[in-house]
Amino acid sequence: MTRIVVLTGAGISAESGVPTFRGPDGLWEGHRIEDVATPDAYEADPGTVLAFYDARRRALASVAPNAAHRALARLEDAIGPELLVVTQNVDDLHERAGTGNLVHMHGELRRALCGWCGARPAWDGDLIDRPPCPECGERMLRPDVVWFGEMPYDLDRIERAVVACDVFASIGTSGAVYPAAAYAALAASFGARTVELNLEPSDALVPFDDARAGPATELVPAWVEEMLAVCT
Ligand code: APR
Repeated sequence: MTRIVVLTGAGISAESGVPTFRGPDGLWEGHRIEDVATPDAYEADPGTVLAFYDARRRALASVAPNAAHRALARLEDAIGPELLVVTQNVDDLHERAGTGNLVHMHGELRRALCGWCGARPAWDGDLIDRPPCPECGERMLRPDVVWFGEMPYDLDRIERAVVACDVFASIGTSGAVYPAAAYAALAASFGARTVELNLEPSDALVPFDDARAGPATELVPAWVEEMLAVCT
């Protein structure tokens, strides 16, 4: 039995056409990250922030999972809950590819978060018009995405899986944001083998046992084939 934790970031969705956060111009879809992804930005200018995420949510309709998302779903088909995928992405491409054992640690575009009652309803429409919360009726819905300075979701579950895994793979993430950036080092300190699959080597806290550079749609299917040979 090989327990695997896969951490994914924006790089796994890049070839599906979802822009990464830290592109060469340092902007996210033309915005500085701090202008659209902090509680202060939302308080100062909720309209801009809501419109920004409404556009991101609508854009999901025109993208599709790629070979890397599908390969991870194949791995889960083969080994079941021994694989946990932890994604920092707020898109829904892992679930559309068929991954079920999935944690969205930075939230999901396709959910809203009620600032009044804390409900997290599934949400596919816009939020800019301040629709009522389906639970409490208050008009305080915001995107259910974790902004800088806020607590990511499911940290206990993630950390339990990270310290117990045999293989930890980091895919398409720059390693710039904590706590996700610390998970590879944590897994290694508990004896896991660590692998990085990224377009370029990231600024890792501790070197990966195996660091492979290239596009996710090539590297991930090849790595999954290797895992299937070992695990099944
Ligand atoms: N295949 C593999 N890796 C890729 C590809 C690709 N086709 N394209 C880009 N990458 C790599 C980049 O080299 C970079 O290292 O993906 C990484 C993307 O890094 P970021 O844009 O920083 O995204 P991520 O690591 O997911 O950001 C973490 O930051 O803004 C916050 O909450 C947001 O979840 C996000 C978090």
